[in-house]
Amino acid sequence: MLSEETVVLDQSVSNSSPDSRSPQLDLSQIRNRFPILSREIHGHPLAFLDNASTTQKPDSVIQAMVDFFQQSNSNVSRGVYTLAEEATENYEEARKTVAKLLNAVSEDEVIFTSGTTAAVNLVAQSWASQQLKAGDRILVTEMEHHSNLVPWQQLCKQLGIELDYWTIDREGCLDLEELNQLLSENTKLVAMTAISNVLGSINPVGEVVKRAHSIGAAVFVDAAQAVARMPIDVQKWDCDFLAFSGHKLYGPTGIGVLWVKQEQMQKMSPWQTGGGMISKVDRQESHWASGPAKFEAGTPPVAQAAGLTAAIDFILETGFDSITRHETELTQICLDKLQSETDVEIYGPTSMESRAGVVAFNLRGVHPHDVAQVLNESGIAVRAGHHCTQVLHSKLGLQASVRLSVGVYNTEEEILRLVTSLQHVRDLLK
Ligand SMILES: Cc1ncc(COP(=O)(O)O)c(C=O)c1O
Repeated sequence: MLSEETVVLDQSVSNSSPDSRSPQLDLSQIRNRFPILSREIHGHPLAFLDNASTTQKPDSVIQAMVDFFQQSNSNVSRGVYTLAEEATENYEEARKTVAKLLNAVSEDEVIFTSGTTAAVNLVAQSWASQQLKAGDRILVTEMEHHSNLVPWQQLCKQLGIELDYWTIDREGCLDLEELNQLLSENTKLVAMTAISNVLGSINPVGEVVKRAHSIGAAVFVDAAQAVARMPIDVQKWDCDFLAFSGHKLYGPTGIGVLWVKQEQMQKMSPWQTGGGMISKVDRQESHWASGPAKFEAGTPPVAQAAGLTAAIDFILETGFDSITRHETELTQICLDKLQSETDVEIYGPTSMESRAGVVAFNLRGVHPHDVAQVLNESGIAVRAGHHCTQVLHSKLGLQASVRLSVGVYNTEEEILRLVTSLQHVRDLLK
């Protein structure tokens, strides 16, 4: 469990109880903005409860991409004609919007990638492969998604580096006392998720950064789950790298972000080379462009950038206070209901104090895939499997789990429908 001191020091990452002063969402107005929510599945209204996997898209995101293709479609940073200028403007606007979302010092700290996975690989190859050497250590947590684990494993093999694990406690939280023992002068990087995609645990990023920096280690933050659930301030966290995917933020697939602190970006050399990332090419030598372009070889996801801008605008207009309040209330209802079922095992923190809107569970005696399949018969979309966290599942003594994850458009009725439908699962399979 987090110490009280930590909660006080790092309030930006605490959910606490729903703040009754936060404005309540106008749910019907929000739901009307998501065309897919009017779908029926097997004769039931769709209850999309797999938001940790990907989120649905509001009308403004869809329209922004349609508008781009219908009005401004062109490549970026190359042409001098009107469409090319508009496409470039649109792409650079997205960079500014991301900088605003993260409170970055400058948009020059924002590199576009294809997603979180690509961002982790970029840091591994462009920064870590140059900065780390045999004998150094990388620290990850046991709850990392494979995206923030496998690239580090590969790098460790390549360079002869040790990979250390920060274990989770019985509640699925990280113990800062243990961190002090794990950090050594050889630790050069801590790679951690801000929110677990299975346990829902909210991790004390700011405090980790302080401790890691005090021994000279850099910190990479996987914000894939956090970005749509809590305000992120990279200056406040003071981390070195932070990544997220557009599609988990009500935006399109195919675009993600790697934010890099300027002093670290100066140490990075390009991983992928080619067009768009050079300043000059001679027959035998090439010179790199400055700023983020150096890491964006080839044609970037231009239409997706338009969608990402619209998605961030949607989130900021809706407001994190309201989003957090809504998701916390729904998750609390879900936990209360599931905890009262004697054959349901829930993983992760029991209190919403350190948990976001993700709930992994198992119905004793029924395979998670069967649970998800029967729920689908009632129009309920949840995920079953290891959720790309096999190390975590092994630690929990599991092969797989069922996971529901709420988003801005989910309703109490959907949560209650899921709980009721579990009875249907029991009737059929137990
Ligand atoms: C915590 C976390 N990190 C990384 C990823 C990978 O994201 P992507 O597949 O968009 O690269 C996910 C996706 O589920 C995730 O939940």
